[in-house]
Amino acid sequence: MRNETIAIHAGYEPEATTHAVAVPIYQTAAYAFDSADHGAALFNLEAEGFRYSRIANPTSAVLEKRIAELEGGVGALAVATGQAALHFAFVNVADHGGNIVSVPQLYGTTHTLLSHILPRQGITGRFAESDKPEAIEKLIDENTRAVFAETIGNPAGNVCDIEALAKIAHAHGVPLIVDNTVATPILLKPFDYGADIAVHSLTKFLGGHGTTLGGAIVDSGNFPWAKYAERFPAYNKPDASYHGLVYAERFGRTAYIERARSVYQRTMGSVLSPFNAFLLLQGIETVALRMERHVENARKVAEFLRGDPRVAWVNYTGFPDSPYYPLVQKYLNGNASSLFTFGIKGGMEAGKTFYDALKLITRLVNIGDAKSLACHPASTTHRQMSAEQQRVAGVLPETIRLSIGIEHVSDIIEDIDQALETACPLSRLQAAE
Ligand SMILES: Cc1ncc(COP(=O)(O)O)c(C=O)c1O
Repeated sequence: MRNETIAIHAGYEPEATTHAVAVPIYQTAAYAFDSADHGAALFNLEAEGFRYSRIANPTSAVLEKRIAELEGGVGALAVATGQAALHFAFVNVADHGGNIVSVPQLYGTTHTLLSHILPRQGITGRFAESDKPEAIEKLIDENTRAVFAETIGNPAGNVCDIEALAKIAHAHGVPLIVDNTVATPILLKPFDYGADIAVHSLTKFLGGHGTTLGGAIVDSGNFPWAKYAERFPAYNKPDASYHGLVYAERFGRTAYIERARSVYQRTMGSVLSPFNAFLLLQGIETVALRMERHVENARKVAEFLRGDPRVAWVNYTGFPDSPYYPLVQKYLNGNASSLFTFGIKGGMEAGKTFYDALKLITRLVNIGDAKSLACHPASTTHRQMSAEQQRVAGVLPETIRLSIGIEHVSDIIEDIDQALETACPLSRLQAAE
C-alpha cells in the first residue's frame, strides 16, 4: 500500500466484538488471564496478547503498526514523548563505556541528552564538526555503539546524506539511528537508504495538530546483532533481567524493538496513554495531505522572504544555491522542509521586534503543527548550548525559525510582511541607502 492508504488503514480492522470502525480507546491498565497457564505464557512472551498497559496496549498497538508500516519497518514501540523514544533508542544500544557518534545539528534537548545526561550514565555523545560522512567516521572507535543523525536537522534544516552515513556505520559494525521527525516517512523513508532505526517525535508533523505529545521507535529489522556479538552482548548473552532470554536468538529481526519494550518500557515506563495514541492516529490519517501543503506553503514563504529587502538571509534548502539542494532532490524528491530559518536586517534587536509583531503566526517552541509557528532558538530551544555549539547547530543570535503551517499562504505572507515592516521599515532602509 501507499503512504496515503497506510496512514488511514494500517494496523486496524474493525474489531470482532463491536465492529467499531474508528480505533477504540482501550483505557485499561490490565488484561484478564484465562488461566494461570495463559498468564504464564504471556509473561514468557510465548503467547500473543496483552497483560499490562505499561508493556503494550491495543490502541497504542495500532499506532505502532501504522508507524512501522509507514516507515517500512518490522516493528515499532510507541512511548510518551519523542525524548523518551530517543533515550530508549540510545540506551538500547549503548551501555556504560559506550559512545554515540552524532552529527552536530540536533534539536537542543537531544543535544543536551547526549552531551550532559547520558554521560552521567557512562554513555558519551561525540559530536562531529559537521554532518559530512568523513567528519563522522573520524570519531568512531571500538566503543562506538551507534551513529546518530536527524534526517532533517531542527532548526538547521540540513539534510543528512543517510546512505553515506549508513555505509560508514555499517563498515564499523554499528547501526545508524536517525530521528525522522521533521521529514516524516511521507517525505523520506530512511530504511530505503540503509538506516537501521528511526525515531520520531509524534508530537510534530505526524500528530499534526499540536495537541498531543508522543514518540516512537521503529526497527528496520536489518541490523545483524548476532554478527557483532562482542560489541552487543545485550543481544547475544542471556539476559538475567528476563530469565535468561537471548534477544537476537529469540526474536531475530525484531530483537531491537522487543528489547526496547521488554527492558526499557517495562522497567522505566514513559508510556503513551491510549487516549493520546487515539489522537495521534487521528492526526496521522491526514499526514500525507498536510505534508504536501506544508511543503508548498513553505516554498512560497521562502521565496517571498528571499525577495524582500528587509531580510538579510534565508536558509531554505529548496533554493538551488543551498548546499543541501542536491540532497533535497535525492532524499526528499525535491520537497524541501517547511521548517527553515531566516534572519532580518538589524540583527538580534530587529529579530526580536519582528517576532513580537507577529499576529497570525504563533510564538512558541513547537514545530509541525497545522498552524504556522515561529521560534527564536537562541533564547529558547538552544539556550543550553554555548554560542559556538549554537553556531554549529545552525543557530545565530538573530535566527528566526519558521514552521510553516497549512493556512492560506497569503495570510501567512501578509503576517510576515506586517511584522517585517514593524521591525525594519522599508522607508528606513531606503533612507539609509
Ligand atoms: C527533531 C526532534 N526530535 C525530538 C523532539 C522531542 O520530541 P518531544 O517534544 O515529543 O519529546 C523534538 C522536539 O521538538 C524535535 O524537534
